[in-house]
Amino acid sequence: MSSEIGLIGLGTMGAALALNIAEKGFDIAVWNRTTQVTRDFHGTAGDLAPRITPTDSLEDFVQAIKVPRAIILMVPAGDIVDAQIEALRPLLGPDDLIIDAGNANFHDTNRRAREATGPFLGIGVSGGEEGARHGPSIMGGGKRDYWDRVAHILDAISAKYEGTPCATWMGEEGAGHFVKAVHNGIEYADMQMIAEVYGILRDGMGYDAPAVAKVFDAWNDGPLRSYLVEISGKVAAAQDAATGGPLLDVIADAAGQKGTGRWTVIEAQHLASPVPAIEAAVVARNLSSRRETRALGEDLFGAAPKPLGEDALTIDTLEQALIAGKILCYAQGFAMISAASEAFGWALPLPDIARVWREGCIIRSEMLNDMADALTDDPEQNLMFAPYFADQMKTTHDALRQVVAAAALHGLPAPALGSGLSYFDAMRTKRGTANMVQGQRDYFGLHGFVRLDDGKSDQHGPWAQ
Ligand code: 6PG
Repeated sequence: MSSEIGLIGLGTMGAALALNIAEKGFDIAVWNRTTQVTRDFHGTAGDLAPRITPTDSLEDFVQAIKVPRAIILMVPAGDIVDAQIEALRPLLGPDDLIIDAGNANFHDTNRRAREATGPFLGIGVSGGEEGARHGPSIMGGGKRDYWDRVAHILDAISAKYEGTPCATWMGEEGAGHFVKAVHNGIEYADMQMIAEVYGILRDGMGYDAPAVAKVFDAWNDGPLRSYLVEISGKVAAAQDAATGGPLLDVIADAAGQKGTGRWTVIEAQHLASPVPAIEAAVVARNLSSRRETRALGEDLFGAAPKPLGEDALTIDTLEQALIAGKILCYAQGFAMISAASEAFGWALPLPDIARVWREGCIIRSEMLNDMADALTDDPEQNLMFAPYFADQMKTTHDALRQVVAAAALHGLPAPALGSGLSYFDAMRTKRGTANMVQGQRDYFGLHGFVRLDDGKSDQHGPWAQ
């Protein structure tokens, strides 16, 4: 009974997290369903092995941890988490804490927190394997007391932004996993916008992968500085050992997904909180997997009608467009968090969420520090209206417009950039067109409308007589 914490599930993320915990000076007990995996993990832990107690049975695992225990589950999201909790709970004392650190659907975390017969936390962990190993961004949910019990460990293992740990308690129950889901939604939109710009460079402007890499590398030194732009440059620069050509050219254009982006979009619809750039990104992944249908479409309608030509858009215009697009997808994500905060009674700390994303996570970027400042000034306002970002939108939305228009004219799909632009235009249009929709609804269903002149509601048109 000497380990300060335990961890179940030594897959890629679990193993990396366990090593991170050991490296920060905490003794840790580990267990995996397959004993050989536990042994191999311990055998390759090197200098960290003395801090790690490998165990062969769940009973031994539990006994190896100091009371009151804290146990991290790093198993695949879904039924496996429930099964693991069911197997574990009878072996635990009343104060022992179970922490689900997988990519759980926050509804499941809400349910698990409510049904739990002992302390339970759900934490979102972002940063992939590298983050888990050397410093992830951690978004916690559950009772504050439980979080406080392990905060020193989570702070220690998290990424640091100028010395500040990127680990924050977000609220009760599934709040941490909810924030992680929105993080992933933004991740999808950010990745998709970068991919759309790549498409314009490749198919519209004739850039090969190494040339694309140079563009992304250069952008990573400016306002777009971010992990996703950085790795996009690296992906574009990679050579394929088999062909000797760019690796990017031999990667199938069908994107996978584990579902977190889809959850975000479904939840946004329930909250009636518009996240069109994130929706477009999920749709784009779904469309990407229909490779055979797309090939039929190209045979039928022809490929993109005409190349853009190098002069149609400048690299600077593309950079400005991506800046605008990025602000818009974050604005949508934060607005959704704000809507959820109210709907679920969570008081989600918006500025802290921006802060916790500044390092360690997949969407970390230069802009997030400014977003944290803007949300500190006014957490309720849409980020695109915050003075700093409003100024940025004023100077960049024309570029976004040029890029979306050029893409449309030349048959290059740019759904996330286009949705971002429509969101911007809708959000700055005082007199919209929903009066027509209300007129139609009243015509066929007598649903009633509000008059602008006298403010009266439940009004009907002459068709009501
Ligand atoms: C992170 C990532 C991570 C992961 C997801 C999303 O924050 O570290 O979001 O959780 O990559 O599994 O992946 P999909 O693209 O497969 O949905």
